[in-house]
Amino acid sequence: MNLKGRDFLKLLDYTPEEIGYLLDLAARLKAKKKAGELHDVLRGKNVALIFEKTSTRTRCSFEVAAHDLGMGTTYLDPTGSQIGKKESIADTAQVLAGMFDGIEYRGYGQQIVEELARYSKVPVWNGLTNEFHPTQILADFLTLQEHFGHLRGLKFVYMGDARYNMGNSLMVGCAKMGLHFVACAPKAYWPEQALVDQCRAIAAGTGATIDFSEDTAAVAGADAVYTDVWVSMGEPEEVWAQRIHDLAPYQVNGELMAQAGPGAVFMHCLPAYHDHKTQVGRTMGEKFGRDAMEVTDQVFAGPQSVVFQEAENRMHTIKAVMAATLGAEL
Ligand code: CP
Ligand code: NVA
Repeated sequence: MNLKGRDFLKLLDYTPEEIGYLLDLAARLKAKKKAGELHDVLRGKNVALIFEKTSTRTRCSFEVAAHDLGMGTTYLDPTGSQIGKKESIADTAQVLAGMFDGIEYRGYGQQIVEELARYSKVPVWNGLTNEFHPTQILADFLTLQEHFGHLRGLKFVYMGDARYNMGNSLMVGCAKMGLHFVACAPKAYWPEQALVDQCRAIAAGTGATIDFSEDTAAVAGADAVYTDVWVSMGEPEEVWAQRIHDLAPYQVNGELMAQAGPGAVFMHCLPAYHDHKTQVGRTMGEKFGRDAMEVTDQVFAGPQSVVFQEAENRMHTIKAVMAATLGAEL
């Protein structure tokens, strides 16, 4: 498998075999890290990390992974560069590609990261856009693979806002890797029909299925129950009231988990609003009289939750993406 020179912009661009290869490489790199085996095979290389939105996991994953591989990193924060304000994406791509061996981009529209890649002669990696969050799905699938030993045939139920980056990317990932994807939400929160059609066409060749339901009974028999915040980065505060109204019936709580399969895991990309220990969680919780939003604290901290394993796996999978696309020999 040779992925050298490839961008990593969305899972739609990758075959099931390529995704499987990245997951296996991530597992190998994780084992090396746990064994204390150095793997700094990309010494002398440097990567640029552009973040137009904030981050904990993705930024730390790219930085630690790059350092483990022997590479230098430069972090460009949401306000401290010329990008977008004084310099176009096309110009930025050509400037950075002259200095760096790879570029990570987190920001708004998917078309921005696609444009960056078009003008960059070095690999560009999507660290989250409004539409897709492909490195997160690799971490989620590595976690599922570790837990169940396989991906194919698992029933994967996504609760809540399914038409944003997480719902879209998980649907694509499930289609590619042969899972049974169900999004459970009011119709207005289902992904765009064009993407659904594309995923169903992929699913026809992989044994996956793609389904939608407004009824939470769709969680029956689920192997994985996944949710994400109801209001994403970059969305205005004013949408909270409507989202809570629409999505509260789809909260992941003890009652819902009891309807899932007996061995089901709870997953979340994080950060999560499961208590009042964050500024937003507290403000919105008090304003709308809720202890938690998309997931209760009981489920979040309960025995079925694999959220911190997922978070750690962000680093191992992002390392695999960089290593593979930069042609590391491992
Ligand atoms: N899951 C995720 O992407 O987290 P961050 O926003 O902290 O990077
Ligand atoms: N949907 C969330 C995902 C965070 C990792 C957001 O875009 O804010």
